[in-house]
Amino acid sequence: MNILAIETSCDETAVAIINIQDEKIRVLANIVSSQIKLHSKFGGVVPQLAARAHLQNMVPTLQEAFRQSRIDKNEVDYIAFTKGPGLAPALMIGGNTAKALAFSWEKPLIEVNHLEGHIYVNWLEGSGLICNLKDISFPVLALIISGGHTQLVLMKNNMQFEIVGETLDDAAGEAFDKVAKILDLEYPGGPIIENLALEHKKKGSIKFPRPMLNSKDFNFSFSGLKTAVLYEVRKYGNLTVSDKANIAASFQQAVIDVLVAKTIKASQFYKVKNIVLGGGVSANQALRQQLETSLNKSLPMVRLLYPPKALATDNALMIAVAGYFHILQKQNIISWQEVSTDSNLRLK
Ligand code: KG4
Ligand code: ZN
Repeated sequence: MNILAIETSCDETAVAIINIQDEKIRVLANIVSSQIKLHSKFGGVVPQLAARAHLQNMVPTLQEAFRQSRIDKNEVDYIAFTKGPGLAPALMIGGNTAKALAFSWEKPLIEVNHLEGHIYVNWLEGSGLICNLKDISFPVLALIISGGHTQLVLMKNNMQFEIVGETLDDAAGEAFDKVAKILDLEYPGGPIIENLALEHKKKGSIKFPRPMLNSKDFNFSFSGLKTAVLYEVRKYGNLTVSDKANIAASFQQAVIDVLVAKTIKASQFYKVKNIVLGGGVSANQALRQQLETSLNKSLPMVRLLYPPKALATDNALMIAVAGYFHILQKQNIISWQEVSTDSNLRLK
């Protein structure tokens, strides 16, 4: 069985083709055409510009995916696409492409929630061309930390989601991006702040707030932390590189402390067996290490899984894998007449 997957929820035009045979997944193509340069001067993604770039990049990205996969369009069995959440004009380009292909090739479609993709990419064993599917026992707690979302999601079984905590304002990645803007750094801020913090070699000397660290729920809030960084920056005349590195390291540590504490607390409460990470912020090495260390201390039986860095940020392979799980569950399979996108789609 071959699945073609299309992802356009934000600023990456992504196409993947996978083949599934004897429970093995062959990654025939996984192409990400990034728009980072286009948006970087605006300090964030501009939805209309993203949609225009998706329109330009979509067919060349599809062509490249087919060239690499060496399969013919007649060999595609399903077309998976990101229904939401994301930027409305961006989602519509991917949705409409999938619809047009399904119509002309007479193939079924699979609706995929972008966050299902970030979660299910963890089921891939290895990052090579031939992957097995991991056997991950439930309950699973997913920590989704991206530019648009920060959620703790409890899964009692495959494709069953309960959002048990989420941000009340900014997403974790959004906070990284806004702090980068305050520090006059480029977009996306996450990797730049991580590198600055690494250069600093210390944890950072500024005591920024840890919002909602001790709240009884599993929710988050990052907008106050971003404002605290803004007030801190105003104290300086000119920021030196080492000032910026200290602020970056101190900010990153505040985010990590909250993410780690809430994830461990939710894991204890729901007695989960596995934790999976997903979304761009989960590429952060300091976060991965500190979560691993805290888990080893407080919940040594709980396994932590995270995707290789290239699969933590947006890609279409994750949409293909989540699509495959929908096929296994016999759900979300639709015809071209039923295609719609939903920028506020929630996991359920
Ligand atoms: O999942 P993703 O690629 O797109 C969304 O679905 O939003 O996540 C992008 C976000 C951006 O906010 C970016 O700054 C952040 O992930 N990010 C990171 C790192 N790499 C990307 N944040 C912290 N550390 C990183 N290494
Ligand atoms: Zn994403």
